[in-house]
Amino acid sequence: MNNNGFAKQYEKLREECERTLEAAIPDGVPEKLQKSMRYSLLGGGKRLRPALYLAVIRSYGEEPSDEDRKTAAAIECIHSYSLVHDDLPAMDNDDLRRGRPSNHKAFGEATALLAGDALLNLAFELLSGCACADARYARIMKLIAERSGALGMIAGQAIEFDADLAAAGESEFSGIARLKTGKLIEAAVLGGCIAARKEREIGAWTEYSENFGRAFQLRDDMLDVGGGERSLASVLGDGAEAELEALCRAALSALEKTGGDTEFLRGLTKSVLLRSSDGL
Ligand code: IPE
Ligand code: MG
Repeated sequence: MNNNGFAKQYEKLREECERTLEAAIPDGVPEKLQKSMRYSLLGGGKRLRPALYLAVIRSYGEEPSDEDRKTAAAIECIHSYSLVHDDLPAMDNDDLRRGRPSNHKAFGEATALLAGDALLNLAFELLSGCACADARYARIMKLIAERSGALGMIAGQAIEFDADLAAAGESEFSGIARLKTGKLIEAAVLGGCIAARKEREIGAWTEYSENFGRAFQLRDDMLDVGGGERSLASVLGDGAEAELEALCRAALSALEKTGGDTEFLRGLTKSVLLRSSDGL
């Protein structure tokens, strides 16, 4: 697949995600809450986690089911809520997200808090609906709940919040990223593996997602280095580029062990990890 072929396929996948996300917000939600939810859920983003989930399934020649599209959307709802809450003044206090005012800047703190809550709830409405239809999705729901919960993504946020980042070193930054960023990516990848009934390949997919997650956060930090915040990238300094390449290579070599047709995932891995801006 040439680069153009990859870009077209990714674009199609993202459109597929947009349609499911658009349909996921129910009618009848109070107007301001509805606007705030839509603002963050439908306001751009790479749709990386749903793309990973769906691409893992397709790597085994399977066409994602309706449940799969809903599961992919649920993972994006969790990602979206985490960004809304992360930007709040009590957390990172960021005024901007994806180049426009963050949710609380546009709608106020109380509505942003509630929109984040509602997106998290929506994720589990979608996931539990799938679990009722097929027990495989109950396992996927458990996986997503654990990876995004107090031993996973939220743990990473909590540890970061309490850490002395001015004094933190490589292992502290890596530990935070493994939880905060890595665990939801892992949920997407391993969820796809379970959906495709390929649990015997879980080791290879775990290796892929761990390397991908570490590289993804490092790339994000590298793009932000001008922002002046201490991060894994600033701690690694001149070594960051080599570390990124090594992680990217490790992710690509893990893909070869999965037994699937991973051409699209190879393209996705390279384009996301080596992106030069967040517009991809
Ligand atoms: C941003 O995630 C937060 C991190 C975990 C680094 P993304 O880079 O996937 O955010 P969007 O959804 O594309 O804006
Ligand atoms: Mg943050």
